[in-house]
Amino acid sequence: MESQRNISLKPYNTFGIEAKANYFLKIKTVNELRSFLSNHAAQTPLLVLGGGSNLLFTRDFPGVVLKINIEGIQVIRKDNDYVWVKAGAGENWHQFVLYCIEKELGGIENLSLIPGTVGAAPMQNIGAYGVEIKDVFESLEAVEILTGKVHTFDNKACRFGYRESVFKLELKDQFIITSVVFKLSKTHQVNTSYGAIEATLQEKGIAQPTIRDVSDAVISVRQSKLPDPAVIGNAGSFFKNPVITASQYAHIQAEYENVPGYELPDGGVKVPAGWLIEKCGWKGKKIGEVGVHKMQALVLVNYGNAKGEDVKKLAFDILKSVTDKFNIELTPEVNLI
Ligand code: EPU
Repeated sequence: MESQRNISLKPYNTFGIEAKANYFLKIKTVNELRSFLSNHAAQTPLLVLGGGSNLLFTRDFPGVVLKINIEGIQVIRKDNDYVWVKAGAGENWHQFVLYCIEKELGGIENLSLIPGTVGAAPMQNIGAYGVEIKDVFESLEAVEILTGKVHTFDNKACRFGYRESVFKLELKDQFIITSVVFKLSKTHQVNTSYGAIEATLQEKGIAQPTIRDVSDAVISVRQSKLPDPAVIGNAGSFFKNPVITASQYAHIQAEYENVPGYELPDGGVKVPAGWLIEKCGWKGKKIGEVGVHKMQALVLVNYGNAKGEDVKKLAFDILKSVTDKFNIELTPEVNLI
């Protein structure tokens, strides 16, 4: 288990940004991780990488970058209705979704084609098309950085919220997720409530979709709207969708009758950040090597040789114009390093 020096992180982030890691180490087992931690000086900065699909490098990383490559998928329990599947943190998320579909296990088909790894998925409670990981999440194992001890977190302990978990809040930078257990259904009721998914299934004439049909529909919707990181660097949605008050929403509605919004149980309204950004005139804009995707204004892109600072500047310019026009402050969804 040798660490490498001065490694380019460009292949390890979907934005395709050049940045160097002082030290870089691939971790294949929990024991390797624990042995690394037992020798790791607490004052040396540590960055844990999964698929690198939700971060933006704005500088070289002065400490150790750990790439978590812990693999393995196994069924650990079954009953008449459910199957509990455990997956290593380093498994590719989409490949894991396909594995479950192959085994006819339902619950994560709406999360098809999300870039990243299994271990990173609970960090931000990934979600798409009406489903979030918390809906099928049973538990995870994580190693405490300070002590090397393995802890188990159940659904409640993870404190999942919208693109949020305890690992982004109180326990930030304290644990490294090594495996996740999902409770998947053998008799799954598919969720096709999301407009674009329903429309795609209808177009194909599918009235009673299987989990594979839903996965295929999700894949085609994503491919039509979101840039493929293998072709154009990006990290998916750059900002979270903001929640505003009902009166703020009414104020926007007075000017834009068709402003989309989803009422939440607490009375707040979630407004698509993509809509706000588009209304500020950013959609499809290209500025040097960076830009705003032409099909989805919430996605910032690297056309090839952008620096992290260029993307960050664009993000802050967008943030400022949304604040100026709508008095709504967007929060980045992507982690800035
Ligand atoms: N919209 C616009 N212009 C745009 C983009 C969106 O007007 O350029 C409006 C449209 O009214 C559209 C609505 O926003 O109907 C919603 O757009 P979309 O269905 O694309 O979803 P989103 O709210 O922009 C969220 C997630 C995505 C996820 C989709 C589908 C966040 C931050 N993003 O985007 O997640 O795939 O819903 O469920 O919640 C990601 O996290 O990286 C990600 C891609």
